[in-house]
Amino acid sequence: MQKTLSNIVVLISGSGSNLQSIIDNTDNIGINIQSVISNKTDAFGLERAKNAGITTKVIKHTQFDTRKEFDHALIRYINTLNPDLIVLAGFMRILSADFIDAFSKNTRKILNIHPALLPKYKGLNTHQRAIDAGDFEVGASVHFITNELDSGEIILQKSVAIDLGDNAETLAKKVLEQEHILYPEAIKKILQG
Ligand code: GRF
Repeated sequence: MQKTLSNIVVLISGSGSNLQSIIDNTDNIGINIQSVISNKTDAFGLERAKNAGITTKVIKHTQFDTRKEFDHALIRYINTLNPDLIVLAGFMRILSADFIDAFSKNTRKILNIHPALLPKYKGLNTHQRAIDAGDFEVGASVHFITNELDSGEIILQKSVAIDLGDNAETLAKKVLEQEHILYPEAIKKILQG
């Protein structure tokens, strides 16, 4: 019997290296990427999607007067696809409660990857904040999205030791490499229930 693939959409704003690792692992995860959505026209991730023959969609947040209107444009488009999972991969917009409620009220449907060992260091500049605090390790977390920033249930984490001579830049690189392993694993885990 043929395995049914789960449908996902991926939201990006930039380089899309996590998107690339998801693309490279589609067979292993058992997914069909229906569309890659970007809020920026020049996001390199759009090229990655096109190279893989995946539909792309740009919905520019700057075209809307409010966050709510932007979010509703996203909701309308995503609703036409009816995905099993919405994957945020370097999507640099905070989503409103309307978006979360539209997809995630009773089910765990929106995933994010954050470059820190949550619940530590929500928000930006995570690695520098870990160095400043004298931490011995940094890392990444895959978590569900809720109405509170970077606070939903954690699905998987990976840590990276801070070595002598590391700075925010070297750590960002090391953590990103781990993210590329972590995100496909976490998506697979969620879709397999
Ligand atoms: C990653 O560090 C991710 O944790 C954060 O944004 C970055 C996206 O990188 N949310 P990329 O666009 O996947 O290369």
